[in-house]
Amino acid sequence: MTELRSAQWYGGDGRDAYIHRAWMRRGLPDDAFTGRPQIAIANTASDLTPCNRHLDEVARSVRDGVHQAGGVPLELPALSLGETQLRPTAMLWRNLAAMATEEMLRGNPVDGVVLLGGCDKTIPALLMAAASVDLPAVVVPGGPMLTGTFRGTPLGCGTDVWRLSEEVRAGTLSRDDFTRSESAMIRSKGHCNTMGTASTMGLLAEALGMVVPGVAGTPAPDSRLLAAAHGTGRLAVELVAADRRPSTVLTRASFHNAIVALAAIGGSTNAVVHLLAVAGRLGVELTLDDFDRIGSRVPVLVDLLPAGRFLMDDLHRAGGLPAVLREVRDLLDPTALTVTGRPLVEYLDDAEIWDAEVIRPRSAPLVEEGGIAVLRGNLAPRGAVIKPAAASPELLRHRGPAVVFDSIEDLHARIDDPDLDVTAGSVLVLRGCGPKGYPGMPEVSNLPLPAKLLAQGVRDMVRVCDGRMSGTAYGTVVLHVTPEAADGGPLALVRTGDVVSLDVAARRIDVEVDDAELAARSPSRATVDGYARPVRGWERLYVDHVLQADTGADLDFLLGSSGSEVSRESH
Ligand code: FES
Ligand code: MG
Repeated sequence: MTELRSAQWYGGDGRDAYIHRAWMRRGLPDDAFTGRPQIAIANTASDLTPCNRHLDEVARSVRDGVHQAGGVPLELPALSLGETQLRPTAMLWRNLAAMATEEMLRGNPVDGVVLLGGCDKTIPALLMAAASVDLPAVVVPGGPMLTGTFRGTPLGCGTDVWRLSEEVRAGTLSRDDFTRSESAMIRSKGHCNTMGTASTMGLLAEALGMVVPGVAGTPAPDSRLLAAAHGTGRLAVELVAADRRPSTVLTRASFHNAIVALAAIGGSTNAVVHLLAVAGRLGVELTLDDFDRIGSRVPVLVDLLPAGRFLMDDLHRAGGLPAVLREVRDLLDPTALTVTGRPLVEYLDDAEIWDAEVIRPRSAPLVEEGGIAVLRGNLAPRGAVIKPAAASPELLRHRGPAVVFDSIEDLHARIDDPDLDVTAGSVLVLRGCGPKGYPGMPEVSNLPLPAKLLAQGVRDMVRVCDGRMSGTAYGTVVLHVTPEAADGGPLALVRTGDVVSLDVAARRIDVEVDDAELAARSPSRATVDGYARPVRGWERLYVDHVLQADTGADLDFLLGSSGSEVSRESH
């Protein structure tokens, strides 16, 4: 084996090595600094990230595994993002968490890292960090929570909040019953149990090859998760010996497999932004169109909320990701490697479907063509996305007059106004919700329907927005419109009453205003006033440097990798 990276700190008998070793000893034996791999455990446990709170327990199992394999485990608290708590949106700090983790891994004497994440942005941020520092790395996804039930009916995290709150607004569910369901929804440790962003990104980390195959999707309270964490700790020591880095695992082939998996599981649209961002750190050529080209004809096989019926606990019981991928094995790239050094496809031979209601066989999919459709048109010159499996089939081709909202505040002020000039055929447009405009590109694109239409029984309408949508949400929603309104996108120019046409089969989203007239318009005062204008701090840095959704909404100066080299000694 070549010399460990950490030997640059601990090797030799000079003054600097003395300092690095002496302050680290604190009970560690002498041989902790002579050839034992130093394994960081980048841990996003936090009381304010409730979905990740149990990761301290997972970290203990990782530690045991690292020790057992002869390494030195070193916990590195990582910046943590709780999706339900952070305002204005957790996404505003995904890049900050990635940057902070990357820098701390580079600056410290570590040889490899185990990444512990769960809640939506945490696994993407950790993958971005690992890609840019390119030290041997492996992910342990924290896993979903167990299914909670209310009055005998399972509740899906997120999805059923949207559903029940719309029922309250429609007058078909009492406030009291709505409040009573609250304590039933979150039954255990773990992240959201629907096929939201956390579930999606945990499974996609495995499809990318960054998780020991078969581990992603293990429910957080399941003792097998701790066994897997122990095994992953051991593997991290091997990764260092083998010098197996993210850049050898995260190839174009592995992104291809992740896109196939995203479609087959019916995963979150947020995965598009996150996968593009991770690829951007590696210099892997991945574009928005790859999602449509590779994924849009892949069948949805997993019958989970929000597209279907079941929850993550059911998926695990039914065979998990390997059983899903076995059904689409012919669509996978067999060359893509995993952290174990073996190709992903080798792990599919023994996979079996134990419940064909939850994981459908290829011959009887939930939706024939799943995945993400990428739309373009004069409303979204650089692209927008829609998840057809979460949309109403009859709305996939639709023309209707726009009802435009200039900001989230404008929406809240007017959406339930009985005098709002809107019908079920209208197209709701919300702007100012992109990376720069909000800032942070929040999950607001599935805007609530007007109360008066809900009362008439309307449950879906075409919506168009430059923001994102929760992976737990559903509806005929055109999102990630690029460029966003605040970055000069034509979405800023649409007026109430303009006819908007959506044609998913033709991959088009247009406003029926001729080019000359559109070019002659400028955004209204109300539109521009809705954009964020931070004067200092992270928000300022973010707004000045964030890129658009079509390339992953990373900061321009964070693209690419700097490797693990440090420029200078500290003394
Ligand atoms: Fe954390 Fe849904 S809020 S995963
Ligand atoms: Mg979310």
